[in-house]
Amino acid sequence: MKIVLLGYMASGKSAVGRKLAEKLDLQFVDLDDFIEENEEMSISDMFSKKGEIYFRKKESEYLEILLNNKKNLLISSGGGTPCYGNNLNSIKEKSISIYLDASIQTIFDRLKNETSQRPLVATIGIDSLKEYIAKHLFERRNFYEKATHKISVNNKSIAEISTEVLELF
Ligand code: S3P
Repeated sequence: MKIVLLGYMASGKSAVGRKLAEKLDLQFVDLDDFIEENEEMSISDMFSKKGEIYFRKKESEYLEILLNNKKNLLISSGGGTPCYGNNLNSIKEKSISIYLDASIQTIFDRLKNETSQRPLVATIGIDSLKEYIAKHLFERRNFYEKATHKISVNNKSIAEISTEVLELF
């Protein structure tokens, strides 16, 4: 079995993923970490040294490797993963996907303190961050909404979200 968590940056994919994998006895893989380990380069360096297109290629490659792996895995994707190339089709074909649906406000509240680790928002000032998230989420939402299941994550703890996801199985 493969489960893939989808959602915007800071929607809790990694934290929820870790908890869920433990509960479901699945191996947890964070796609960003998997790329960084295999490429021996941080995502930030990859964006700045090789460019976003290079990152997107690697993201698709490593997603495919994980989806084709025989093991039972719980994969937490990157915020852009389902929005590029054939990724969404592959995810739909080879896994059960869950969209962690966070509101603009929730994302803003979490992201405002951690933009530096995220190349897409690292240069966006706090004054325009909310507007950026609103536009970007509007573009990406159509992809996320194609997930098998959707869970709203606003004002919920990791434990609460995990419990809701577990009820799906
Ligand atoms: C990205 C999200 C990041 C990472 C990269 C690009 C995106 O992952 O993959 O910086 O396009 O939204 P998180 O969603 O884990 O922050």
